Amino acid sequence: MTPSVRVRVPAKVNLDLGVGPLRADGYHELSTVFHAVSLYDDVTVSAAPEWEVVVRGPEAHKVPVGSDNLARRAAELLADLSGTGSPVRIVIDKDIPVAGGMAGGSADAAATLVACSVLWDLEAERDLLDEAAAQLGSDINFALVGGTAMGSSRGELLAPVLGRGRYHWVLALADEGLSTPLVFAECDRLRRAEGLDPMTIPTPGPSSEMMSALRSGDAVALGRCLRNDLEVPAFHLRPELSDLLDAGLEYGALGGVVSGSGPTVAFLVDGAEGQLDLAVALTASRAADDVRRATGPVHGAHVVPDPAL
Ligand code: C5P
Repeated sequence: MTPSVRVRVPAKVNLDLGVGPLRADGYHELSTVFHAVSLYDDVTVSAAPEWEVVVRGPEAHKVPVGSDNLARRAAELLADLSGTGSPVRIVIDKDIPVAGGMAGGSADAAATLVACSVLWDLEAERDLLDEAAAQLGSDINFALVGGTAMGSSRGELLAPVLGRGRYHWVLALADEGLSTPLVFAECDRLRRAEGLDPMTIPTPGPSSEMMSALRSGDAVALGRCLRNDLEVPAFHLRPELSDLLDAGLEYGALGGVVSGSGPTVAFLVDGAEGQLDLAVALTASRAADDVRRATGPVHGAHVVPDPAL
Protein backbone atom coordinates (compact mmCIF):
# COMPACT_ATOMS: atom_id res chain seq x y z
CA MET A 1 0.00 0.00 0.00
CA THR A 2 1.25 3.56 -0.80
CA PRO A 3 2.41 5.31 2.40
CA SER A 4 0.14 8.20 3.38
CA VAL A 5 0.17 10.88 6.08
CA ARG A 6 -3.00 12.30 7.62
CA VAL A 7 -3.02 15.72 9.29
CA ARG A 8 -5.83 17.35 11.28
CA VAL A 9 -6.06 21.14 11.18
CA PRO A 10 -8.37 23.56 13.01
CA ALA A 11 -10.45 26.55 11.90
CA LYS A 12 -9.81 29.97 13.42
CA VAL A 13 -11.79 32.93 14.64
CA ASN A 14 -10.31 36.40 15.08
CA LEU A 15 -10.93 37.68 18.61
CA ASP A 16 -9.76 41.11 17.45
CA LEU A 17 -9.13 42.23 13.88
CA GLY A 18 -7.72 45.69 13.24
CA VAL A 19 -7.38 46.64 9.58
CA GLY A 20 -4.65 49.17 8.86
CA PRO A 21 -3.42 50.75 5.64
CA LEU A 22 -3.85 49.24 2.18
CA ARG A 23 -0.35 48.35 0.99
CA ALA A 24 1.21 48.59 -2.46
CA ASP A 25 0.97 44.76 -2.78
CA GLY A 26 -2.85 44.93 -2.45
CA TYR A 27 -2.90 43.53 1.10
CA HIS A 28 -3.82 45.44 4.25
CA GLU A 29 -1.60 45.80 7.24
CA LEU A 30 -3.32 43.90 10.07
CA SER A 31 -3.19 43.62 13.81
CA THR A 32 -5.18 40.61 14.87
CA VAL A 33 -5.66 38.03 17.61
CA PHE A 34 -6.11 34.59 16.06
CA HIS A 35 -7.77 31.82 18.08
CA ALA A 36 -7.91 28.19 16.86
CA VAL A 37 -11.20 26.36 17.50
CA SER A 38 -12.17 22.69 17.43
CA LEU A 39 -13.69 22.55 13.98
CA TYR A 40 -11.36 20.50 11.77
CA ASP A 41 -10.44 19.46 8.26
CA ASP A 42 -8.42 16.26 7.79
CA VAL A 43 -5.93 16.18 4.94
CA THR A 44 -4.36 12.92 3.73
CA VAL A 45 -1.37 13.05 1.42
CA SER A 46 0.24 10.18 -0.49
CA ALA A 47 2.76 9.90 -3.32
CA ALA A 48 1.10 9.81 -6.76
CA PRO A 49 2.07 9.84 -10.44
CA GLU A 50 0.51 13.33 -10.85
CA TRP A 51 -0.61 16.20 -8.63
CA GLU A 52 -4.21 15.62 -7.62
CA VAL A 53 -6.71 17.10 -5.14
CA VAL A 54 -9.87 15.34 -3.96
CA VAL A 55 -12.31 17.11 -1.63
CA ARG A 56 -14.92 15.16 0.34
CA GLY A 57 -17.83 16.39 2.48
CA PRO A 58 -21.13 18.26 2.05
CA GLU A 59 -19.44 21.46 0.78
CA ALA A 60 -16.89 19.69 -1.44
CA HIS A 61 -18.45 21.07 -4.63
CA LYS A 62 -17.54 24.63 -3.54
CA VAL A 63 -13.79 23.96 -3.50
CA PRO A 64 -11.74 24.24 -6.73
CA VAL A 65 -9.54 21.16 -7.22
CA GLY A 66 -7.33 22.32 -10.11
CA SER A 67 -3.83 23.80 -10.05
CA ASP A 68 -5.15 26.91 -8.22
CA ASN A 69 -6.21 24.88 -5.15
CA LEU A 70 -4.28 26.39 -2.23
CA ALA A 71 -3.34 22.97 -0.74
CA ARG A 72 -1.90 21.83 -4.06
CA ARG A 73 -0.03 25.14 -4.46
CA ALA A 74 1.38 24.63 -0.95
CA ALA A 75 2.64 21.12 -1.80
CA GLU A 76 4.16 22.28 -5.09
CA LEU A 77 5.87 25.24 -3.43
CA LEU A 78 7.33 23.05 -0.67
CA ALA A 79 8.54 20.59 -3.33
CA ASP A 80 10.29 23.49 -5.11
CA LEU A 81 11.75 25.06 -1.98
CA SER A 82 13.08 21.76 -0.62
CA GLY A 83 14.09 20.30 -3.98
CA THR A 84 13.03 16.85 -2.68
CA GLY A 85 9.28 16.55 -3.26
CA SER A 86 7.47 14.78 -6.07
CA PRO A 87 3.74 14.76 -6.98
CA VAL A 88 1.19 13.84 -4.31
CA ARG A 89 -2.51 13.07 -4.07
CA ILE A 90 -4.20 15.34 -1.51
CA VAL A 91 -7.50 14.18 -0.04
CA ILE A 92 -9.32 16.84 1.98
CA ASP A 93 -12.12 15.76 4.34
CA LYS A 94 -13.81 19.08 4.77
CA ASP A 95 -15.70 20.15 7.86
CA ILE A 96 -14.59 23.81 8.09
CA PRO A 97 -17.09 26.05 6.25
CA VAL A 98 -15.98 27.12 2.75
CA ALA A 99 -15.56 30.92 2.36
CA GLY A 100 -16.82 31.30 5.94
CA GLY A 101 -14.15 33.61 7.36
CA MET A 102 -12.63 30.71 9.31
CA ALA A 103 -9.56 30.20 7.11
CA GLY A 104 -10.57 26.74 5.85
CA GLY A 105 -8.51 27.01 2.64
CA SER A 106 -5.48 28.23 4.58
CA ALA A 107 -5.97 25.39 7.08
CA ASP A 108 -5.86 22.82 4.26
CA ALA A 109 -2.69 24.41 2.89
CA ALA A 110 -1.07 24.27 6.36
CA ALA A 111 -2.11 20.63 6.83
CA THR A 112 -0.70 19.76 3.40
CA LEU A 113 2.63 21.39 4.27
CA VAL A 114 2.89 19.34 7.47
CA ALA A 115 1.83 16.10 5.73
CA CYS A 116 4.29 16.61 2.86
CA SER A 117 7.09 17.45 5.29
CA VAL A 118 6.56 14.04 6.95
CA LEU A 119 6.21 12.20 3.63
CA TRP A 120 9.38 13.84 2.28
CA ASP A 121 11.42 13.62 5.53
CA LEU A 122 11.63 17.39 5.95
CA GLU A 123 10.53 17.48 9.59
CA ALA A 124 13.80 19.12 10.67
CA GLU A 125 13.22 21.97 8.22
CA ARG A 126 10.44 23.84 9.94
CA ASP A 127 11.68 27.14 8.45
CA LEU A 128 10.76 25.88 4.99
CA LEU A 129 7.17 25.34 6.09
CA ASP A 130 6.97 28.82 7.58
CA GLU A 131 8.46 30.32 4.43
CA ALA A 132 6.04 28.47 2.12
CA ALA A 133 3.10 29.42 4.37
CA ALA A 134 4.01 33.13 4.38
CA GLN A 135 4.42 33.18 0.60
CA LEU A 136 1.02 31.63 -0.06
CA GLY A 137 -1.37 33.52 2.21
CA SER A 138 -2.08 35.44 5.38
CA ASP A 139 -3.62 32.79 7.66
CA ILE A 140 -1.52 29.71 6.85
CA ASN A 141 1.25 30.36 9.37
CA PHE A 142 -1.33 30.53 12.14
CA ALA A 143 -2.96 27.25 11.08
CA LEU A 144 0.47 25.62 11.50
CA VAL A 145 0.74 26.66 15.16
CA GLY A 146 -2.84 27.13 16.43
CA GLY A 147 -3.53 28.21 20.00
CA THR A 148 -4.08 31.95 20.46
CA ALA A 149 -1.63 34.30 18.75
CA MET A 150 -1.15 37.92 17.74
CA GLY A 151 -0.81 38.34 13.98
CA SER A 152 0.77 41.34 12.27
CA SER A 153 2.00 42.48 8.82
CA ARG A 154 -0.67 40.92 6.56
CA GLY A 155 -1.31 38.25 9.25
CA GLU A 156 1.67 35.98 8.64
CA LEU A 157 3.92 37.30 11.44
CA LEU A 158 2.94 35.65 14.71
CA ALA A 159 3.61 36.01 18.42
CA PRO A 160 1.96 33.54 20.84
CA VAL A 161 -0.47 34.96 23.40
CA LEU A 162 0.13 33.35 26.77
CA GLY A 163 -3.35 32.93 28.10
CA ARG A 164 -5.43 30.74 30.34
CA GLY A 165 -8.81 29.15 30.04
CA ARG A 166 -10.80 27.16 27.59
CA TYR A 167 -13.50 29.07 25.77
CA HIS A 168 -16.82 27.75 24.48
CA TRP A 169 -18.09 28.98 21.12
CA VAL A 170 -21.23 28.72 19.04
CA LEU A 171 -20.50 29.33 15.38
CA ALA A 172 -23.45 30.48 13.28
CA LEU A 173 -22.80 29.47 9.67
CA ALA A 174 -24.36 30.94 6.56
CA ASP A 175 -25.37 28.99 3.44
CA GLU A 176 -23.49 31.29 1.13
CA GLY A 177 -19.87 32.37 1.67
CA LEU A 178 -18.42 35.88 1.42
CA SER A 179 -15.42 36.79 -0.73
CA THR A 180 -12.52 38.03 1.43
CA PRO A 181 -11.20 40.53 -1.19
CA LEU A 182 -14.72 41.98 -1.56
CA VAL A 183 -15.07 42.54 2.19
CA PHE A 184 -11.65 44.26 2.40
CA ALA A 185 -12.61 46.40 -0.64
CA GLU A 186 -15.87 47.35 1.08
CA CYS A 187 -13.87 48.36 4.18
CA ASP A 188 -11.77 50.71 1.99
CA ARG A 189 -14.87 52.06 0.24
CA LEU A 190 -16.56 52.89 3.56
CA ARG A 191 -13.37 54.59 4.79
CA ARG A 192 -13.21 56.74 1.65
CA ALA A 193 -16.91 57.61 2.08
CA GLU A 194 -16.06 58.87 5.58
CA GLY A 195 -13.29 61.06 4.14
CA LEU A 196 -10.49 58.77 5.37
CA ASP A 197 -7.56 57.67 3.23
CA PRO A 198 -7.33 53.82 3.30
CA MET A 199 -3.62 54.02 2.38
CA THR A 200 -2.59 55.97 5.46
CA ILE A 201 -4.98 54.85 8.20
CA PRO A 202 -3.14 53.63 11.35
CA THR A 203 -3.38 49.97 12.38
CA PRO A 204 -5.40 49.62 15.58
CA GLY A 205 -4.13 46.96 18.01
CA PRO A 206 -6.15 44.83 20.45
CA SER A 207 -7.31 46.54 23.63
CA SER A 208 -5.44 46.09 26.90
CA GLU A 209 -8.77 44.76 28.28
CA MET A 210 -8.65 41.89 25.76
CA MET A 211 -5.07 40.98 26.57
CA SER A 212 -5.79 40.98 30.30
CA ALA A 213 -9.01 38.94 29.79
CA LEU A 214 -6.95 36.34 27.88
CA ARG A 215 -4.20 36.31 30.51
CA SER A 216 -6.70 35.65 33.29
CA GLY A 217 -9.01 33.35 31.29
CA ASP A 218 -12.00 35.61 31.96
CA ALA A 219 -14.67 34.67 29.41
CA VAL A 220 -17.10 37.38 30.53
CA ALA A 221 -14.49 40.11 30.04
CA LEU A 222 -13.33 38.59 26.74
CA GLY A 223 -16.91 38.57 25.48
CA ARG A 224 -17.10 42.33 25.99
CA CYS A 225 -13.91 43.02 23.97
CA LEU A 226 -14.47 40.97 20.79
CA ARG A 227 -13.96 43.36 17.86
CA ASN A 228 -13.50 43.26 14.10
CA ASP A 229 -12.96 46.13 11.62
CA LEU A 230 -14.37 43.91 8.86
CA GLU A 231 -17.68 43.52 10.69
CA VAL A 232 -19.36 46.69 9.40
CA PRO A 233 -18.20 46.04 5.81
CA ALA A 234 -19.56 42.47 6.10
CA PHE A 235 -22.89 43.87 7.41
CA HIS A 236 -23.07 46.18 4.38
CA LEU A 237 -22.68 43.24 2.04
CA ARG A 238 -24.90 40.92 4.13
CA PRO A 239 -27.33 43.02 6.26
CA GLU A 240 -28.93 39.95 7.86
CA LEU A 241 -25.66 39.23 9.73
CA SER A 242 -26.31 42.22 11.96
CA ASP A 243 -29.69 40.74 13.02
CA LEU A 244 -28.01 37.39 13.64
CA LEU A 245 -25.43 39.03 15.92
CA ASP A 246 -28.17 40.86 17.84
CA ALA A 247 -30.18 37.63 18.21
CA GLY A 248 -27.20 35.73 19.65
CA LEU A 249 -26.53 38.48 22.20
CA GLU A 250 -30.20 38.63 23.13
CA TYR A 251 -30.23 34.84 23.66
CA GLY A 252 -27.45 35.14 26.23
CA ALA A 253 -24.06 35.03 24.49
CA LEU A 254 -21.23 36.70 26.44
CA GLY A 255 -20.17 38.35 23.19
CA GLY A 256 -20.27 37.88 19.46
CA VAL A 257 -18.25 38.92 16.44
CA VAL A 258 -18.10 38.28 12.71
CA SER A 259 -15.21 35.85 12.16
CA GLY A 260 -12.56 37.27 9.81
CA SER A 261 -14.28 38.49 6.66
CA GLY A 262 -17.46 36.53 7.54
CA PRO A 263 -20.14 35.43 7.08
CA THR A 264 -19.65 33.10 10.09
CA VAL A 265 -20.62 34.80 13.35
CA ALA A 266 -18.77 33.49 16.42
CA PHE A 267 -20.53 33.71 19.79
CA LEU A 268 -18.66 33.24 23.05
CA VAL A 269 -20.81 31.52 25.67
CA ASP A 270 -20.61 30.39 29.28
CA GLY A 271 -19.58 26.72 29.30
CA ALA A 272 -21.02 23.66 27.58
CA GLU A 273 -24.52 24.34 28.88
CA GLY A 274 -24.51 27.88 27.50
CA GLN A 275 -23.32 26.44 24.23
CA LEU A 276 -26.22 24.02 23.95
CA ASP A 277 -28.77 26.68 25.01
CA LEU A 278 -27.57 29.19 22.41
CA ALA A 279 -27.26 26.59 19.64
CA VAL A 280 -30.88 25.52 20.25
CA ALA A 281 -32.16 29.11 20.51
CA LEU A 282 -30.48 30.22 17.27
CA THR A 283 -31.73 27.27 15.24
CA ALA A 284 -35.22 27.03 16.78
CA SER A 285 -35.80 30.76 16.15
CA ARG A 286 -34.33 30.37 12.64
CA ALA A 287 -31.92 33.22 13.35
CA ALA A 288 -29.15 30.98 11.95
CA ASP A 289 -29.17 28.52 9.03
CA ASP A 290 -26.78 26.16 10.76
CA VAL A 291 -24.75 26.23 13.99
CA ARG A 292 -21.70 24.39 15.25
CA ARG A 293 -20.26 24.13 18.74
CA ALA A 294 -16.52 24.38 19.29
CA THR A 295 -13.95 25.08 21.99
CA GLY A 296 -10.66 26.92 21.84
CA PRO A 297 -7.78 27.28 21.90
CA VAL A 298 -6.69 24.04 20.21
CA HIS A 299 -3.41 22.93 18.61
CA GLY A 300 -2.52 23.75 15.02
CA ALA A 301 -1.96 21.22 12.20
CA HIS A 302 -0.88 17.84 13.63
CA VAL A 303 -0.46 14.29 12.37
CA VAL A 304 -3.24 11.82 13.29
CA PRO A 305 -3.59 8.08 12.56
CA ASP A 306 -5.17 7.35 9.19
CA PRO A 307 -8.40 5.38 9.87
CA ALA A 308 -7.96 3.58 6.54
CA LEU A 309 -4.78 1.89 7.80
O1 C5P B 1 -4.01 35.90 2.20
P1 C5P B 1 -5.28 35.45 1.59
O2 C5P B 1 -5.07 34.79 0.26
O3 C5P B 1 -6.14 34.66 2.49
O4 C5P B 1 -6.08 36.80 1.28
C1 C5P B 1 -7.18 36.83 0.41
C2 C5P B 1 -7.44 38.27 -0.01
O5 C5P B 1 -7.89 39.03 1.12
C3 C5P B 1 -6.25 39.04 -0.55
O6 C5P B 1 -6.08 38.83 -1.93
C4 C5P B 1 -6.65 40.49 -0.24
O7 C5P B 1 -7.58 40.98 -1.19
C5 C5P B 1 -7.39 40.36 1.09
N1 C5P B 1 -6.49 40.57 2.23
C6 C5P B 1 -6.04 41.85 2.50
N2 C5P B 1 -5.19 42.07 3.54
C7 C5P B 1 -4.79 41.04 4.33
C8 C5P B 1 -5.24 39.73 4.08
C9 C5P B 1 -6.10 39.54 3.02
O8 C5P B 1 -6.42 42.81 1.82
N3 C5P B 1 -3.96 41.28 5.33
